[in-house]
Amino acid sequence: MTRKIKSAKLVSEFVAAFRCPLCKSSMRVVDFKSLICSKNHTFDFTKQGYVNLMPHPANSHYKKELFEARHKIIKESNLYTFVHEAIATSIKEYMDVSFKPLMVADVGCGEGSHLQRILDECKVSAMTGVGLDISKEGIAMAAKRYENLIWLVGDLAKSPLEDQSFHVILNILSPANYKEFKRILVEDGLVIKVVPRSNYLKELREALFDNNEKKVYKNDHIVSLFKKHLHLLDVFHLCYTKNLNNVELKNLVQMTPLAWSADKERMDAFIHRDSVEITVDLDILVGVKTAPMIGGSE
Ligand SMILES: C[S@@+](CC[C@H](N)C(=O)[O-])C[C@H]1O[C@@H](n2cnc3c(N)ncnc32)[C@H](O)[C@@H]1O
Ligand SMILES: [Zn+2]
Repeated sequence: MTRKIKSAKLVSEFVAAFRCPLCKSSMRVVDFKSLICSKNHTFDFTKQGYVNLMPHPANSHYKKELFEARHKIIKESNLYTFVHEAIATSIKEYMDVSFKPLMVADVGCGEGSHLQRILDECKVSAMTGVGLDISKEGIAMAAKRYENLIWLVGDLAKSPLEDQSFHVILNILSPANYKEFKRILVEDGLVIKVVPRSNYLKELREALFDNNEKKVYKNDHIVSLFKKHLHLLDVFHLCYTKNLNNVELKNLVQMTPLAWSADKERMDAFIHRDSVEITVDLDILVGVKTAPMIGGSE
C-alpha cells in the first residue's frame, strides 16, 4: 500500500474531526485520493501522505534546515525528553484516557517529533494524533517520518479542524489562537501550552547577543493571555541543563529563530566550542475551557 493510500485510509477513519477551511462544511475522503467538502472544495493527499489545507500558500520563515535541526535536537540529542514526560503525565492526570478515540492535535507542530514522542510516552492505544502547521516543509518532513499520525498543512488561526472534536490540544513553542482552541475542544478538553522562561537557552542568547532584549525572555504576557481565555489547572516549571557537543551545538543554533538576527562571527565562535551546558527553562501550562465543578458543598 502506498504512503498516500495508507494516509487516506487513516484520515477516512477520523474524517468527522476535519472541516473545509474555505466553507467550513464537513469533508469526506474520495477514492483514497482527496479530501472533498460538501461544496466540492478539493484537497489532494500528497505522495508523502499529508494534505495541504491552506486556502492560499503561506510564506513561512521556517525552512527545511531549521526543521531538520529541530528533529536532531529532539530525537537524537533528546533535549526535550523531560518535557515529553511531563506532558504525557498531565494528559493522563487530567484527561479520561479510556475515551475512544482520544483525539490529540498538536497545533504549530513543526516537523512533528514532539507529537510522536508524546504519544509514545502516553502509551494509550486509542489516541489519534493530528499535527497541523502552516509550514509545508515541516509537515512534509513529519509525514515522511511518522506514518501512523495525520499531518495537515493549515493555519491554526483558521483551522480545518471541526468544532468540539479534540480532547487535547498541544501548542509547543508556537503561536496560539484561543478562540479557535476553544471551538475545536470537546467540553472538558485540555490545552497544554509550552512557553519559554527567562533562562531558556540562555547560553545561546548570551553568546549571540549583547542587548538585553534578546538576552532575557519574559513570558508573563503569554501566561496572562492563556489565563484570560482558559481556566488554568496546573503549571509545571521545568528547568534543567544538558551538555551538547560540538555537532549538537550547530544543530541548536540552526533550530532556533534566534539565529536569523545574530551576527555570523558570534555564531561561528559558539559552534566551534567543544561542548556547552545548555539550559532548558520552560513553563508547561495546562488549561481547560471551563472551571471544573468543585463538589462537596450542599
Ligand atoms: C518555533 S516553531 C515550533 C515548532 C514545534 N512545535 C517545535 O517545538 O519544534 C513555531 C512553529 O509555529 C508554526 N506556525 C506559525 N504560525 C502558524 C499558524 N498561523 N498556523 C500554524 N502553524 C504556525 C511555524 O510554522 C513553526 O513550525
Ligand atoms: Zn468547502
